[in-house]
Amino acid sequence: MAALTRLSLVFSAAPPPSSQRHNCGCVALSISIPLARKLPDSSTLSSRCSSSFSVPSQFRNNKGFRRARVVSASTAGLPPSTVLVTGAGGRTGQIVYRKLKERSDQFVARGLVRTEESKEKIGAADDVFVGDIRDAASVIPVIQGIDALIILTSAVPKMKPGLDPSKGERPEFYFEDGAYPEQVDWIGQKNQIDAAKAAEVKQIVLVGSMGGTNPNNPLNSIGNGNILVWKRKAEQYLADSGIPYTIIRAGGLQDKEGGIRELLIGKDDELLQTETRTIARADVAEVCIQALHYEEAKFKAFDLSSKPEGTGTPTKDFKALFPQITTRF
Ligand SMILES: NC(=O)c1ccc[n+]([C@@H]2O[C@H](COP(=O)([O-])OP(=O)(O)OC[C@H]3O[C@@H](n4cnc5c(N)ncnc54)[C@H](OP(=O)(O)O)[C@@H]3O)[C@@H](O)[C@H]2O)c1
Repeated sequence: MAALTRLSLVFSAAPPPSSQRHNCGCVALSISIPLARKLPDSSTLSSRCSSSFSVPSQFRNNKGFRRARVVSASTAGLPPSTVLVTGAGGRTGQIVYRKLKERSDQFVARGLVRTEESKEKIGAADDVFVGDIRDAASVIPVIQGIDALIILTSAVPKMKPGLDPSKGERPEFYFEDGAYPEQVDWIGQKNQIDAAKAAEVKQIVLVGSMGGTNPNNPLNSIGNGNILVWKRKAEQYLADSGIPYTIIRAGGLQDKEGGIRELLIGKDDELLQTETRTIARADVAEVCIQALHYEEAKFKAFDLSSKPEGTGTPTKDFKALFPQITTRF
């Protein structure tokens, strides 16, 4: 079987406002592409990502300010909460999982991955469970006893093999049978939400995608999957569930260092009309975790991107970030 690796596919979701735009359309999707040799995997990429946030005085040492640890004043002194991240073998999911493990004073981390291979990739610890979100029965046990759930599962389109770029051939994509967005992004997310509700989970953070306000968004035509439609349906289901939720609709995801850019909050895909439509996976991961700390992040849905590195002021103060969100859906 050919080795598969993930690349990001970027599509134009809105007409470029200026002729200088060359990376237009900040919504992108992961795809699996058959390769003869595997590219450096996402764990290599994410291990380069690091957070650099200021810390409260109790974590400073006498040599100055430490940059490694992010502690929220709102949870200091509380017992650690148990947090499950699903899609923990994915590129954003594994960053979230690693960050949760690093903050063991605040969190007891749990991960759900689809395969033993993914479990190995993230260290194969006992707190990583193997299960398939399309199968409600395999989701229920891992959700028992958790305080919060971070959903980072997603259908992933694959590129048909045999493409010859030298002939100018355009790539074609497909979803495997049973792994269409309807099954993964709708049924799979719904299974998680239902199980979380039954287990009285206190908060769900769901990472979705910008572009969902336009049914004709080009991402919907990939593999006839209507991926943004099904993602949106799951978001609506979560918002209607009664469980405190935070829905993060990310812009185009990039494997870049986190913590060094100013984050931008948006609504209704308005950020797609601007030049700032991308965000580092590490920043999305950090926002997922910070959302667990602040009441202001609950019952909110928002678009998320960032300014380019070197412009603006890197976001450090999440307590100030979440009140900027004005939208419940
Ligand atoms: N790519 C972008 O530019 C972009 C832009 C905006 C939003 N987003 C969204 O942001 C989120 C994170 O993206 P990402 O690129 O970091 O994710 P990713 O690497 O594609 O990870 C998706 C994860 O979902 C898991 N998964 C798929 N089907 C599953 C199933 N049936 N049961 C259990 N797990 C399953 C996959 O497991 P396996 O590894 O085992 O297959 C994979 O680990 C996704 O919702 C994505 O759609 C992406």
